[in-house]
Amino acid sequence: MRRQLVVGNWKMNTMLSDAIILATGIRNTSGNYSGIEIVLCPPFVWLYPLAEILEKSPANISLGAQNLHWAEEGAFTGEVSAKMLKKLCSYVIIGHSERRKFMGDNQEIVNEKVIQALKQNLKPILCVGEDKKMSENLIYSNEIDPKTMTIEQLRSGLDNIKRDDIDKIVIAYEPVWAIGTGHAATGAYAVAVIDKLRQVLAKKYGRQVADEMRILYGGSVDSKNIAEYVLQPAIDGVLVGGASLKLGEFSKICQTVSSYKET
Ligand code: PGA
Repeated sequence: MRRQLVVGNWKMNTMLSDAIILATGIRNTSGNYSGIEIVLCPPFVWLYPLAEILEKSPANISLGAQNLHWAEEGAFTGEVSAKMLKKLCSYVIIGHSERRKFMGDNQEIVNEKVIQALKQNLKPILCVGEDKKMSENLIYSNEIDPKTMTIEQLRSGLDNIKRDDIDKIVIAYEPVWAIGTGHAATGAYAVAVIDKLRQVLAKKYGRQVADEMRILYGGSVDSKNIAEYVLQPAIDGVLVGGASLKLGEFSKICQTVSSYKET
């Protein structure tokens, strides 16, 4: 059984006081989110204070980083290593489309980062997604076009990753056209792509591994459309950007996921 996961990606937002309010609010209402896992991904500089706030929180709430460097240590001014992060976080977002677009994270770098995260026992949340809406023909066909951006990103992100490590990885399917636009993918569209991703995983690692892997949806998720995704057995949770910055919104999302889970 795949446990539902709700990830809040705060991106380059919040000041320390906002970060404390958000994390404390989630911690204090954790009783409402039974059965699911919640990961808060604040900017690097808030990880330490938030780790202290969440220290005594229930085990289903943890921290994630938004990025890491692919090297273990060294002369990389301004960068943060997995070795440093593992003291504070359990997860790390890798390959987010904003990093691919603005920070030069290409396929090779993304793959190196996944490898480094696993080496240090951090669980990678590997983001993949196409920049243009796929045609109905492509999306609902049984064929898998290896040149599709999302498929390519999945394949190269998992290059050289062994079967034994695969259960530590979470995939986040985030169509770029849906991120921050208010135009979320429909549940049916997301499921169609996620099914393809699972087929690719099954081919590489076997059906059982593919069936056990968690695949999230991300892109303009909010408290109004969350039910659309939670209702789909193929979707194992959500990666939330904008709506994770509002305590009321984010807790509603977590609560909805948790309540659907229980029924
Ligand atoms: P959004 O961002 O929810 O604001 O669309 C999602 C993401 O970038 O992870």
